[in-house]
Amino acid sequence: MAPSTAVSSDPGSASVSGIRTAIVPAAGLGTRFLPTTKAVPKELLPVVDTPGIEFVAAEAAEAGARRLVIVTSPGKDAVAQYFQPQPELEQTLERRGKTALLEKVRRAPGLLEVETAVQKEALGLGHAVGCAEGNLRPDDDVVAVLLPDDLVLPTGVLGRMASARAEHGGTVLCAFDIPKEQISAYGVFDVADTDDPDVKKVNGMVEKPAVADAPSTFAAAGRYLLDRAVFDAIKRITPGAGGELQLTDAIALLISEGHPVHVVVHRGGRHDLGNPGGFLRAAVDFALAHPEYGPDLREWLRGRVEE
Ligand code: G1P
Repeated sequence: MAPSTAVSSDPGSASVSGIRTAIVPAAGLGTRFLPTTKAVPKELLPVVDTPGIEFVAAEAAEAGARRLVIVTSPGKDAVAQYFQPQPELEQTLERRGKTALLEKVRRAPGLLEVETAVQKEALGLGHAVGCAEGNLRPDDDVVAVLLPDDLVLPTGVLGRMASARAEHGGTVLCAFDIPKEQISAYGVFDVADTDDPDVKKVNGMVEKPAVADAPSTFAAAGRYLLDRAVFDAIKRITPGAGGELQLTDAIALLISEGHPVHVVVHRGGRHDLGNPGGFLRAAVDFALAHPEYGPDLREWLRGRVEE
C-alpha cells in the first residue's frame, strides 16, 4: 500500500540511533481474543482510547525510525489503514473546533511512513520477520523489531539498545528478569556480564525452555535491534518450539557463528497485551493515569473491590 504522506522527516535519512526501519509483526489470528478478533484485529483493540499498535509505532518513531513495516496477514488490512490520514474526518473535526480530537486523529499517520508485508501462513515469528526483508532499503544495516503484544515502560529502551550496538556491534535485544516459574513462556538468554550491569553478552538463546532447562531468568521482551545478517539466518533455520520458525533460533544460529549478541536489561514495567488478562491490566493502568477517567475509576474500583 502507498506510504502515508503526513510524515515531515525524510524516511531515507539516518537517525541518531541508526534506526531507520522498524518491523511490527501483526499477522497473528488473535485467537485469545476471539470472538472479537473475527472482525477486529487485536492490534487495534483500544487501551483506553488508543490502539496498542499506536504505542509501539510511537516508540519506534521516538527511537528514530522513519518507516514502519507492518507484517500482516490476509484480512487484517485495517491495521495499516489505521495509519492512513482521514481528510474528511479531519475536516469535520476542524469545522466543529474539536482541536484535541483532531490532534489524536492525526497522530498515528504523522508518526512515520507505514507500509505492509504479507505473511500468508502463520509459520512463526522468525518467518514473519523474514517476510519484511523485501521492504528493507539497501542502507538498512539494522532493523528494530517491536512485538505489539509487549508494552515496555517507560519507553526509551530502543535508544539504550542502539548505544549498546554502537559499542559492541551486532545484534542487541531487550531482556527482562522474569520470575523463574514463568520463564517457559519466553525466549531465554544464556548471559555473561559486561562492565555495564545492564548490558550482558549473550552466549546462547533458547525458545520456551522447560523451567529446569532455562539458562537464566533473563527473557526476551519484545524489542529487538537486529543486524541485517538475521535475514540470512532466518532462511537457514528449521521449525523449533511449537513447530514454528522461531526468531530465537535465528539469533541462536548467529551466536553459534560468532555474531555478537547483547541484551540491555530493562528494569522498568511491562504489559502483555497478548491476552485478555494482561490487556485488562494495561487498560486499567493507563486509565488510572488518565486525567479525565483516572480519578472516577480509582474511586469506583476501590468500592468494587471491597464489595
Ligand atoms: C515471543 C518470542 C519470545 C519472547 C516473547 C516476548 O513469544 O518468541 O522469544 O520472549 O515473544 O513476549 P510469544 O509471546 O509470541 O509466544
